[in-house]
Amino acid sequence: MNALIINCSPVRTGATAEIVSIIAEQLSARYDVRTVCIDDYRIGFCRGCRSCHTTAECIQHDDADLQMNEFELADIIVCVSPSYWADVPGQFKVFIDRCTPWSNTHEPHKALPAGKRGYAVVLRTGPGMKECERLIGTIEHFYSHLNIERRGSLGLVSVEYREDVESRKDDIEAFCKTI
Ligand SMILES: Cc1cc2nc3c(=O)[nH]c(=O)nc-3n(C[C@H](O)[C@H](O)[C@H](O)COP(=O)(O)O)c2cc1C
Repeated sequence: MNALIINCSPVRTGATAEIVSIIAEQLSARYDVRTVCIDDYRIGFCRGCRSCHTTAECIQHDDADLQMNEFELADIIVCVSPSYWADVPGQFKVFIDRCTPWSNTHEPHKALPAGKRGYAVVLRTGPGMKECERLIGTIEHFYSHLNIERRGSLGLVSVEYREDVESRKDDIEAFCKTI
C-alpha cells in the first residue's frame, strides 16, 4: 500500500518537515512511503469562476494536477500542517480551493478511487489545543468532500522549531502505530 505524507508548510527544514520525516520512518516498514512538500508545487489561486461545477474541470492547468496525481496513487494520506494564523498555511489552502473539481458538493465532479484513508497531524507554537482542532477541522472537511475516509488526527502544541519535536517523538510514534 502507498502512503503519501504531505508537508503542508512551505518550510522544508522546520518542525513540520521534522514530523514528516519521523512519520515517514515509522510508516516505511509497512507501506511504500512518498513525502512531498507543498512548496514543490506552483499552484494558482482558485478564481471562483465555478465552471468546474458544470464541467468537473478547472480552467487552469498547473501543478494542482500533479499534486492530485499523488492523491490518486496513495492509499493513505497524511497531511502534516503547522498553524499559520490559526489555520493551515495559505499555500495549502490554495491547493484545497483548487480541488473543487473533485468536490462531492456538485455534479458532475471528478472522483478519487474509493477506499483512501486520511489522517491529520497539526502543530502550533501556542499552548491551546482548540486551535489545533480548528486545523484538524479544515483538513478533515477537505477529506470528507473528496470521499477520503477520516481515520485519525494528532495535535501538537508548544512546537516552534524542529528542535522542539524531539520531546514529542513518543506521541508521534504512538500515533503512527494507529495508521
Ligand atoms: C506566518 C506564521 C503564522 C503563524 N501563526 C501561528 C498561530 O496563529 N498560532 C500558533 O500557535 N502558531 C503560529 N505560528 C507558529 C507555527 O505554527 C510553528 O512555528 C510551526 O512549528 C511552524 O512550522 P514550520 O516551520 O515547519 O512551518 C505561525 C508561524 C508563521 C511562520
